[in-house]
Amino acid sequence: MLVEQAREGFKELFGRPAAGIVFAPGRVNLVGEHTDYNDGFVLPMGVERGIALAYAPRTDDVLRVHSADVPQTRDLLLTQLRHRVTAEPDRRGQRGGWFAYVAGVAWSMLGAAMEIRGTDIALVSDLPMGAGLSSSAALEVGIARALAAAADLEWDPRAAALLAQRAEREFAGVACGIMDQLAVASAKEGHALLIDCRSLETLDVPLPHGMTVVVFDSGVKRDLATSAYNDRRESCERVVEQVRLRHPQVTALRDVTRAMLDEAQGSVSADDYRRALHVIEENPRPALLAAALGKRDLSAAGRTMLDSHASLRDLYAVSTPELDALVEAASSHAGCHGARLTGAGFGGCVVAIADTPEVESLVARVTDAYRATCGRETRAVVTRASAGARIVS
Ligand code: GLA
Repeated sequence: MLVEQAREGFKELFGRPAAGIVFAPGRVNLVGEHTDYNDGFVLPMGVERGIALAYAPRTDDVLRVHSADVPQTRDLLLTQLRHRVTAEPDRRGQRGGWFAYVAGVAWSMLGAAMEIRGTDIALVSDLPMGAGLSSSAALEVGIARALAAAADLEWDPRAAALLAQRAEREFAGVACGIMDQLAVASAKEGHALLIDCRSLETLDVPLPHGMTVVVFDSGVKRDLATSAYNDRRESCERVVEQVRLRHPQVTALRDVTRAMLDEAQGSVSADDYRRALHVIEENPRPALLAAALGKRDLSAAGRTMLDSHASLRDLYAVSTPELDALVEAASSHAGCHGARLTGAGFGGCVVAIADTPEVESLVARVTDAYRATCGRETRAVVTRASAGARIVS
């Protein structure tokens, strides 16, 4: 459907057929939150929703992109970006909004000496924007995939994820980790991806039959670029600095044990201590959840997710009353094994795992409970694990 919409949209707008179509999925993280920028572990998967991008190369140096969702057509001259690839990115007129991600990716690819060329792109998405399913990473990686295909360049998902992350950091001003971009680029159908964010090694974790992943959108928009995310990150860095005074081998919270943290307790603030403790305790959870899924032990899997949520709520302080209400409503249903906020927090979505035959009644229960407790509507996305950014036609 989405693919057809992109194809038709392209033809209508640019008056010629698209050369190809890329689909880039959103992602949902099963566990391992705020661990990626601490060199730790995460366990995301691709979702069935995403962005379809119809593309065709041009003969000049213009990158022109139409987003059907905004709706808006924007363009830039690659030559202008090219002049600045070694210096500061030229953010004038490009900062903010969806096009910043597009410009950022083109800038980042040129900076890596990739010979991208003028391209027309028409894109359409069925991912809720800014809801914690990584619409921005899907856009970045999708644009990279389309630009690479239009210029006949080789596709390396890991390298593309790093370029997309650079774009997000430089052009959108979010000091994000690598999880979203790597998940969107490398996800595997039917699997979650256990990622070591230090080595960038990944392990495919098959999801058990009979289990379904449900995402509940709180409907509360969060702005990732607000200070809260970068502020958490700075807390982590301050703690690492203190621990390093006694343990110089430590380079990230991933290397810090509870005992090391306790040694430094007197020299860090109470907030920083709690935040670091979350990261240290969250870091083993992706492997624990992967093992539980491997054994089809859904109760253990669910407990790990609930522990993660409690820690994000009480220690890292990134939950909201709406997310807590969704987790509470989902996890009190007998067919649901566990639930937690997913993504950065401060609004966005909750992810739950449930027995497949129970999904309908779970969605009904959570919808009613959310309306009753928060006076809001939730949108539920029931999804299988989908493959990463790919050419679909
Ligand atoms: C956002 C960032 C990710 C990660 C999560 C929290 O989604 O883009 O890199 O830090 O928040 O786990």
